[in-house]
Amino acid sequence: MDICRVAILGCGTVGGGVARIMQDLKQDLSMRAGMPVDLIKIVDLNPAESANRHGINRDLFCGTADTITPEEASSFISEIIHDKDIDVVVETIGGTSDFLLDIVKKLIAAGKHVVTANKALLALYNSDIFTTAEASGVQIGYEAAVCGAIPIIKTIQESYSGDKIQSISGIFNGTSNYILSKMKEEGLTFDDALAIAQEKGYAEQDPTYDINGYDAGHKLLLLIKLAFGLDLAFEDIAISGIEDITDDDLDAAQELDSTIKLICYAEKRGEKVFATVRPMMVKNSNFLSQISGATNAVRLINMYAGEQILIGKGAGSLETASSIVADIVFLARNQGNNFHTGDSAGVSLMENDEFELPYNITFDLDDVPGMTGLVATAIGNQGINIDTVGHNRHNIDRAVFPVATMPCSMNQIRAAIDDIEKKRPGVYLNPPKVVPILF
Ligand code: NDP
Ligand code: HSE
Repeated sequence: MDICRVAILGCGTVGGGVARIMQDLKQDLSMRAGMPVDLIKIVDLNPAESANRHGINRDLFCGTADTITPEEASSFISEIIHDKDIDVVVETIGGTSDFLLDIVKKLIAAGKHVVTANKALLALYNSDIFTTAEASGVQIGYEAAVCGAIPIIKTIQESYSGDKIQSISGIFNGTSNYILSKMKEEGLTFDDALAIAQEKGYAEQDPTYDINGYDAGHKLLLLIKLAFGLDLAFEDIAISGIEDITDDDLDAAQELDSTIKLICYAEKRGEKVFATVRPMMVKNSNFLSQISGATNAVRLINMYAGEQILIGKGAGSLETASSIVADIVFLARNQGNNFHTGDSAGVSLMENDEFELPYNITFDLDDVPGMTGLVATAIGNQGINIDTVGHNRHNIDRAVFPVATMPCSMNQIRAAIDDIEKKRPGVYLNPPKVVPILF
């Protein structure tokens, strides 16, 4: 290509940001790409509102009416698929519908490079999309799909191609981090904090995925493929979200000099990979405890380069759009060069419950003599080394206290919890809350 002609499908929060940056930085982008980079078409259901909201030239939108029907949009998209002049298509409609997958596959088959922020689609149809793209000689740019503005994809693809990544961890979902931060720092309710995150454009169209950890899981899956060459089915990753985190949990964590965060964690040991997304009690001495609002952070441990930390905006219109535009420039500048998509080397997933981490277990029991001893003995009997037993927050007739362990497996913890129940049936007033500790 000697001119990079771009179309955008879906001009909402992210797509609108892309159009805006492409319009504002047209000259700079062309200079950096070594060729003109022209945004030539946009398809959106609400052209008038979208043009107005993002300050974009109305003429770029397909259709002259203020709104168009989904059928009309499909027909415009079909024209773009068959338009030989269009080289790169930005997909920012979002979702994982068959309709969208079909569009992406048709674009690839038609020889168009696709740039997308859609981590859900890429995580669910990863091999399918990347294999088809490779066969068709086109590339999939997805920097924006993982941690918004943070250049983690190219960092792994390019900057660490001379190294071996050993672990990836961090905060990959802006909305859930925003909610936890606002609950802790400003005393907002879960629902109020979520509503603000939605207003600010951080949340997914269906925020369930932000809250239940799936969105973070989609991103972790993409990084695991890239860093460790492991193709995972999404359901292989053990995921839990922040839906059950209460003010009490946040306060209890603070008493233990920790902050609860939704953490993505993947570590490669030998040929096995441990991967999980779940709330963790992050020690306040760990930088992740300070990552507030919609900010994301990625921590890489490399064999040779050691620890690297990337921190930046994980969501938002222009923040995410900047990564998409960078992919467009990269594609234009490096046409013909494939993005590196991960080495496969017979790596497989580790049995999750065998991986050892330090845990905090909060017990809620009858407040009668012998309880602390019963708990400590059962934990010790499973070969778990106790780090500390926290103070008992006697709550009327209940004993509520945390036990922090040295690294051990969930299998050991489960056995201890079962043993306590066996020795004293009905002892638990609430099921013990088990949260990994991140130092
Ligand atoms: P939005 O809902 O803001 O934007 C989607 C846009 O697509 C809307 O304008 C929508 O119109 C339009 N649209 C829907 N159906 C069609 C169709 N059939 N044809 C043409 N246009 C259509 O979502 P976001 O911009 O927030 O998200 C887009 C993608 O980016 C998602 O995959 C999301 O996961 C990802 N992402 C989002 C981030 C963020 O900060 N928001 C950050 C990183 C990734 P209408 O509104 O009228 O339905
Ligand atoms: N909903 C996502 C988040 C958008 O809050 O992180 C960025 O991927």
